[in-house]
Amino acid sequence: MMELQQTACCCGGESEPDEKLEKVKATIEQFKLMKGALIPVLHEVQDIYGYLPEHVLKVVSTELEIPMSEIFGVASFYHFFSLTPKGENVIRVCMGTACYIKGAQGLLDRLSTELNVAVQGTTADNKFTLEATRCLGACGLAPVLTIGEKVYGRLTPNDVPKILKEYN
Ligand code: FES
Repeated sequence: MMELQQTACCCGGESEPDEKLEKVKATIEQFKLMKGALIPVLHEVQDIYGYLPEHVLKVVSTELEIPMSEIFGVASFYHFFSLTPKGENVIRVCMGTACYIKGAQGLLDRLSTELNVAVQGTTADNKFTLEATRCLGACGLAPVLTIGEKVYGRLTPNDVPKILKEYN
C-alpha cells in the first residue's frame, strides 16, 4: 500500500498521516508501563502503516526510551515485521519441505518472471510483493501459495498466470 505524503488539510483538521501517528501514540500510552511493550506497539504500527516506517520507529524509540538499534534488532528478528513498504497484494510461496519437494521453487521462479520482481521485492506498480516463506500449515495441499488470506494449493508453474489475472 502506498503511503500518503503528509498534506495540510483544507478544513484545518488533521491530515491522515497525523491520525495514524496519533493512533500509534495512543497505543504507546496504553502499553508504556508494561514490560515487553515494544512488541505490541510494533504490531500496531505495522497494522496501521502496513510496515514499520523509520520516522514512526523514532517516535516509538523516544516514547518507550528504547534505542533505535534495539528496535531494529527486534523488527529484523521477527519475520512478520517489515521495515519496507509492501505491495497491495502480498504473495507468499511456501518453501517448507513438503512444498519444496513438490516444486515450490518452480512456482517462485515463474512468479518472479511473470511479475518481473525479485523474491522479497515489490513490483514497480506497487501491486504485488513476492515472498518466500516457511511452512504455511497446509502441507496436504503442497505446493502452496497465499495471496492475502486466500490459499492456493496443488499448483504447477502453469497455474501462475491464471492466478495473477484474478488480481488485475
Ligand atoms: S511445507 Fe508448505 S504448507 Fe507446509
